[in-house]
Amino acid sequence: METIARTKIVDVLKSEAFGTKVNVKGWVRTRRGSKQVNFIALNDGSTINNVQIVVDIEKFGEDYLKPITTGACINVNGILVESQGQGQKGEIQATEIEIYGTADPATYPLQKKGHSLEFLREIAHLRPRTNTFGAVFRIRHHMAIAIHQFFHDRGFFYFHTPIITASDCEGAGQMFQVTTMDLNQIPRTEDGSVDFSEDFFGKQASLTVSGQLEGELAAMALGAIYTFGPTFRAENSNTPRHLSEFWMIEPEVAFNEIEENMQLAEDFIKYCIQWALDNCMEDIQFLNNMFDKGLIDRLHFVLKENFIRLTYTEGVKILEEAVANGRKFEFPIFWGADLASEHERYLVEEHFKCPVILTDYPKEIKSFYMKQNDDDKTVRAMDVLFPKIGEIIGGSQREEDLDKLARRAQEMGVPAKDIWWYLDTRRFGTAPHSGFGLGFERLLLFVTGMANIRDVIPFPRTPNNADF
Ligand code: 4AD
Ligand code: MG
Repeated sequence: METIARTKIVDVLKSEAFGTKVNVKGWVRTRRGSKQVNFIALNDGSTINNVQIVVDIEKFGEDYLKPITTGACINVNGILVESQGQGQKGEIQATEIEIYGTADPATYPLQKKGHSLEFLREIAHLRPRTNTFGAVFRIRHHMAIAIHQFFHDRGFFYFHTPIITASDCEGAGQMFQVTTMDLNQIPRTEDGSVDFSEDFFGKQASLTVSGQLEGELAAMALGAIYTFGPTFRAENSNTPRHLSEFWMIEPEVAFNEIEENMQLAEDFIKYCIQWALDNCMEDIQFLNNMFDKGLIDRLHFVLKENFIRLTYTEGVKILEEAVANGRKFEFPIFWGADLASEHERYLVEEHFKCPVILTDYPKEIKSFYMKQNDDDKTVRAMDVLFPKIGEIIGGSQREEDLDKLARRAQEMGVPAKDIWWYLDTRRFGTAPHSGFGLGFERLLLFVTGMANIRDVIPFPRTPNNADF
């Protein structure tokens, strides 16, 4: 075969260099045609669009073309010619075709017909080859770039917090343990409890539920930082919005109070959505047509609205009024209750019809590190609530007073001996500061319009599922 430098299909489809030789490589989506001529739709992942390869059957021979079925991988030399068909500029008249790999139609699971998202989850190793997951994972990439660009442009530093940790940041205890102990022969202390001093780290260790505490240490030195990494939660919630392993972005900013924190969160999400519209429109358009006809409108809508800001107390009042007027919820609503996703979505989708930032939650339902309000009942928390998603961001102003922080940690069962280093930030040069965490996959749910969080991460981890 003649050696011609490969062109990605995304570039071939933009090219108007008709009459020139090109090389493309990719996976066959379909091959169809007549006795004289075949049309191969070829995709290489660089774009959702396929390039059409026109094949003169006589030139290659029926037998040679036979293994070129859906899923096969081929290497094609040809002449770029102006397309006769609609919607694309060019197509390739094949001069040489090398078959890299066949895909036996009897066993290749991704045939032409549409597959359910549930079925595709069972073949997560192959689903990136579908239009849907190609689109989702390209968008996922672009969103990661957007996030780094947003913070970089604003002088934030990307700070790497540990994945293995000995502290439970959220104080909720839903952590995956990390151990090298032989589970059949667990070393025990004299009183019978597990002797973690014998374990790898000489103490009990887990996978992190949040990089925030370490992020705060960095903010108290670098001024403004963000983390962006994997996060683990062993909560047994089998919902379309929870993963056991997800990615979280956590900015932390010295001298920011809650208002500035809210503004940062709003600017941040809008920036990401604008970036998606600017850089991923073909993929978004596909998902809009395929799954969610309201997707593009919803993205534009969020961009132009100012997020409604109100307190938890005001929010609960609205929900209680709704109940009084006959609105039914699965979970009870009263001051002090943790809001369920149905409550959050009622506020966003039915009451305000706009993203909402709820602040000043009861201290009992929030983490020990949040700044305590003077009312002694609420803390300076903020949750950003989104249509279709519910909570997309959780954050707060942090308690900067050492005594108040230490007392609250103790009350909530977080041992001071585990977080002495965190308390040191309040001991030495403490300052007001704030931050939040955005669930990357929740953002992706919103931007792609997908309904299940398992479909926006390549290899989802959920209770009873760690395949691939
Ligand atoms: O509200 P969360 O638990 O807040 C924290 O972890 C803080 N330390 C953040 C901070 O202030 N730096 O989690 C933050 C966000 C949620 O709003 C949600 O978007 C996402 O992380 N999230 C999950 N996403 C997928 N699966 C799960 N199990 C998630 N739990 C939280
Ligand atoms: Mg939260």
